Amino acid sequence: MGGKGSSWAARMSGADIGGFVASLDRQARMDAIRSTRLWVRERLMVGPGATVLDVGCGTGDELGELAGLVSPGGRAIGLDVNPLMVDVARQRLAGVTEASVLVGEAAALPLGNAVVDAVVCERVLQHVRHSPVDAVRECARVVRDGGIVAVTDSDWSSLEVLVADDEQATSTLLEVRARVRLPFTDHQEVGRHLADHLTGEGLTIVDQREAVLDDFAPELVRGVSAGLNAAASEVLSASELTDVQRLLDAALARGALRIAVRFYAVVARR
Ligand SMILES: C[S@@+](CC[C@H](N)C(=O)[O-])C[C@H]1O[C@@H](n2cnc3c(N)ncnc32)[C@H](O)[C@@H]1O
Repeated sequence: MGGKGSSWAARMSGADIGGFVASLDRQARMDAIRSTRLWVRERLMVGPGATVLDVGCGTGDELGELAGLVSPGGRAIGLDVNPLMVDVARQRLAGVTEASVLVGEAAALPLGNAVVDAVVCERVLQHVRHSPVDAVRECARVVRDGGIVAVTDSDWSSLEVLVADDEQATSTLLEVRARVRLPFTDHQEVGRHLADHLTGEGLTIVDQREAVLDDFAPELVRGVSAGLNAAASEVLSASELTDVQRLLDAALARGALRIAVRFYAVVARR
């Protein structure tokens, strides 16, 4: 997963896509994600007839909401670098006339200059192959003057892992966490740099929001825990790793493992 210079999400194999889709579906039910999406939608300044672009649209969950926003007569265009994900979004949105989904790269959007009214880009910059700046520059290029670019992302460097009923285990995990670089993101701190990236492209910040993702479903906690373990194997000795693995497994089994990550959204105008 996610070596430097690669995109973990983009490289999901056909065999893994079902698991990735299930994981995105669970994430879409998390409080901070739902409330942040609503908050963004309220600030896009678009209505019926408008054109909105969702960069890195994944399963198309939010794209469907955006299609509702611009209906009737508008266009909600989704774009994702992963053709398998594009297939999923197309299937799920079949029959939604305002929605269409393209295979494409965030850092080289297949659209002309100033052709859309608003762009959203949620939890994509952490995965992009090149610099997140390249993708933000493209979002700024395709939006019309006065249009909105809304970017949302996590700051995985803020990840807190704790065992609710065991202080000693918590401090062990915190110490391990501080030593490892998580494998499922190439730009793990991008969430807290969103405003800088947007102003760097000449956009004006309209509003910003910070939330905490902490209601991870057990399957998602397991995923993060597996990621932490895989990364820990690079910095811990074999016996240390076995101890950490045992600790995580035991905490998971009794439902005591908690994780929390900071989550940012920034809305900017061109
Ligand atoms: C964590 S998912 C988020 C999906 C969706 N925006 C959501 O919030 O549910 C990241 C998505 O970005 C896509 N992606 C990763 N790198 C990309 C790139 N360079 N250009 C376009 N899409 C990309 C992945 O294929 C994946 O579907």
